[in-house]
Amino acid sequence: MAAPVQGPFIAGNWKMNLGLREASALARQIVAAESEITDCSLVLIPPFTALGAVAAAIAGSPVALGAQDLFWEDQGAFTGEVSGPMLKDARCAYVLVGHSERRQLFGETDETVNRKVRAALRSGLSPIFCIGEVLAERDGGQTLDRIAAQLAQGLAGLSKEDMARVVIAYEPVWAIGTGRTASPGQAEEVHAHIRGRLREGYGNDTADCAIILYGGSVKPANSYSLFREKNIDGFLVGGASLDAGGFVAIAKEALRAYREEK
Ligand code: 13P
Repeated sequence: MAAPVQGPFIAGNWKMNLGLREASALARQIVAAESEITDCSLVLIPPFTALGAVAAAIAGSPVALGAQDLFWEDQGAFTGEVSGPMLKDARCAYVLVGHSERRQLFGETDETVNRKVRAALRSGLSPIFCIGEVLAERDGGQTLDRIAAQLAQGLAGLSKEDMARVVIAYEPVWAIGTGRTASPGQAEEVHAHIRGRLREGYGNDTADCAIILYGGSVKPANSYSLFREKNIDGFLVGGASLDAGGFVAIAKEALRAYREEK
């Protein structure tokens, strides 16, 4: 189970980038800067091949490790797949599930995503469950319905206890890697909707404690204004997480907004 979360939750999804040397160096730079952002919960999510190197680089620090995907079976003849127990063994606390790139490029569906969410929980990992609408859905006024459907299907069968370990990441697909960020108001509308659905489905405790991240072109320049929104608890950062300075600056800006709120 992941460590108790405090302050802004900032996760870096390195996607299919960085070899062992670069991954290890980036993780070490982030650990070195960690003392400046101690109230944040930081998670690094390297490609599978660099999990060991990053685990070694962050050992003994409060920075946590995550993986980018998992398969829903624990072991067996599934060439090329990686299971929850394997990720746990590799010292992961978190795993991304249902990232939009996996949904769009690798055929993941709400049903397979649900199997993966449940497999992650079964293995003692916290899933970072990713949802988000495509541009046509936003333009067609279907965003909130799409989000509600992804939540209902992706989280089907989970108990209240399970929900305490799920992190939700709202990533509008049109904002990923495009430089086009959702405005704080656009993001907040969806985050409030997500928390509202959790309140209806699981009650106040689950809704109030849920960590709901925003992802999609998060940068140091927009971190503060996004984090100021009531229902944004942190970020899932792609491109900007590949640079230690940028990643730490995003965390610092979120922390500035967090401290002002208190
Ligand atoms: P960018 O921050 O590069 O837009 O990517 C967001 C993302 O997909 C994180 O999972």
